[in-house]
Amino acid sequence: MPLSDSLGRPLRDLRISVTDRCNFRCRYCMPREHFGSDHKFLAKEEILSYEEISKLAESMIPLGLKKLRITGGEPLMRRDIANLVEMLRRLGDDLDLAMTTNGVLLKNHAEALKQAGLNRVTVSLDALDRDLFQKMGDTRHEPSEVIEGIDEALRVGLEVKVNMVVQRSLNETQIVPIANMCFERTLTPRFIEFMDVGVTNQWNLEAVVSGQEIRDALSKEYGDLEAVKPDHPSDVARRWTTPQGYEFGLIQSVTEPFCGDCSRARISANGSMYTCLFASEGHDLRALLRFDANHDQLQHAIQSIWMDRKDRYSEQRTKQVEVPSKVEMSFIGG
Ligand code: GTP
Ligand code: 5AD
Ligand code: SF4
Ligand code: SF4
Repeated sequence: MPLSDSLGRPLRDLRISVTDRCNFRCRYCMPREHFGSDHKFLAKEEILSYEEISKLAESMIPLGLKKLRITGGEPLMRRDIANLVEMLRRLGDDLDLAMTTNGVLLKNHAEALKQAGLNRVTVSLDALDRDLFQKMGDTRHEPSEVIEGIDEALRVGLEVKVNMVVQRSLNETQIVPIANMCFERTLTPRFIEFMDVGVTNQWNLEAVVSGQEIRDALSKEYGDLEAVKPDHPSDVARRWTTPQGYEFGLIQSVTEPFCGDCSRARISANGSMYTCLFASEGHDLRALLRFDANHDQLQHAIQSIWMDRKDRYSEQRTKQVEVPSKVEMSFIGG
């Protein structure tokens, strides 16, 4: 019988954070004053090995898992990451295998990732303007490095999407340039409403540019937009096309929450399972793994965590439900 949580939602997607480290310090994700040189990142022995990750994923396949996303932090900072892709690919030819990355290391990794069996990459890019890019990412890297990564990924045959987090009075000017850059390459940009994940990013509602405002900006540039039917109810992005036939997505977790069909589980780099991006606590699976649990035991543990699941934070956010202390996105994985 297919597994479903207490609100009837299946377990379909798994997002695996392979490291809590990143070579960027995006202000909205890992502000340097909280993630500086004195920040205690996970120690090597705390982090799940590739064998452990792959064993967990394998236990979820009979439960209905179809999509796997490798995230971080920045997943390309983890050594030999293509080996993990290869191990996950061995779990099934039909598994949708994707990775989220900031793209600066992508140029050197794209080919190996493709060969290992990765289907897709989602590249985060908030600005093409160099100063703004460096300010938002608190980094000396250049947007051109990300573009080179994107072009190499396309060259080797990976499907590419671009994620842009839009913040008011900061990077709204970049919506159209990023859309143009993507449309020229026939890849899909997705514009994300700034979310209140974690506790360090000083989120406030005024900084959120709504999906509707983003649509207005794009419609002004390209003409009347048409909605595209979702492929699957659990998709986070609502898709639209321009009169020229270009497609883009809007991820409107603040103004149009999509918890009703949320089928996403997350595993932090140290092996805790989280049933919501906004959860305050995870369920430790590493202890089980390190006590040498077999697939049945792992599956049983995951099954009971999922059956208990009631999370729908984004839908409740507007009703001012206080969450004691939310986990950071760089830890749990986007
Ligand atoms: P595709 O499989 O390519 O459609 O990717 P995806 O739709 O899973 O999107 P992606 O992993 O690129 O996520 C895009 C962004 O959506 C993330 O970076 C988050 O900002 C947001 N997001 C993803 N999953 C969730 C979720 O479960 N809840 C909320 N509130 N936001 C999410
Ligand atoms: N709000 C919206 N999106 C965010 N991301 C990280 N932090 C936030 C936030 N507070 C996005 C990144 C990346 C993905 C992993 O999540 O830009 O595309
Ligand atoms: Fe790193 Fe991505 Fe977070 Fe930026 S959003 S700090 S690139 S994990
Ligand atoms: Fe899923 Fe939680 Fe996001 Fe809602 S807020 S869509 S339950 S991860």
